[in-house]
Amino acid sequence: MMLRNTRRSLALGLALCASLTLSGAAVAQGGAAEKAVSARQAGFKQIGASFKAVNDELKRGKPDMAAVATAANRLKTHAGQVPTWFPRGSGVESGAKTAARAEVWSDAAGFADAAANLRAQTDRLAALAAEGDVAAVRKQATQVGAACKTCHTKYREAD
Ligand code: HEC
Repeated sequence: MMLRNTRRSLALGLALCASLTLSGAAVAQGGAAEKAVSARQAGFKQIGASFKAVNDELKRGKPDMAAVATAANRLKTHAGQVPTWFPRGSGVESGAKTAARAEVWSDAAGFADAAANLRAQTDRLAALAAEGDVAAVRKQATQVGAACKTCHTKYREAD
């Protein structure tokens, strides 16, 4: 009897947690959606700028690998945040000006995979940059570029 009650309150507790998580993940109408969109667009600008810094340095005959490593670490940090930038309700249906397609949410598992892939590829880029192997870093930068493209093709409106 005792055990049953404990189980029951545990189940209730879990159900409560789940509903709190769900409501926490949704954004309120209007201003909140716009805020989420401008925060993620600013985040992607950072991703774009740090990846450009990596590539610009790699184009030089003798890249400064310390500079590449610094930019790669910034890229990796922002890449790890991508999954938090897409609260439910921050798509075009909110009225906010966003290039995120509805598939971000309707195919949430596929989107999560694309974000996890970016994370894995940027982690590897940062690790290789720290080791200073220019050829390996150049190759890996191509993989990172492919991870951007895969996601944009499926989940971002073409310009
Ligand atoms: C998991 C999916 C995903 C990955 C991976 C991804 N992006 Fe994006 N990106 C998006 C989506 C969706 C948008 C549209 C955001 C919006 O308008 O709300 C976007 C927008 C952008 C923007 C435009 C930001 C603005 O000013 O509006 C840039 C720049 C960008 N991404 C660069 C990159 C680069 C560079 C990479 C790889 C290093 C990358 N993205 C990887 C999904 C992704």
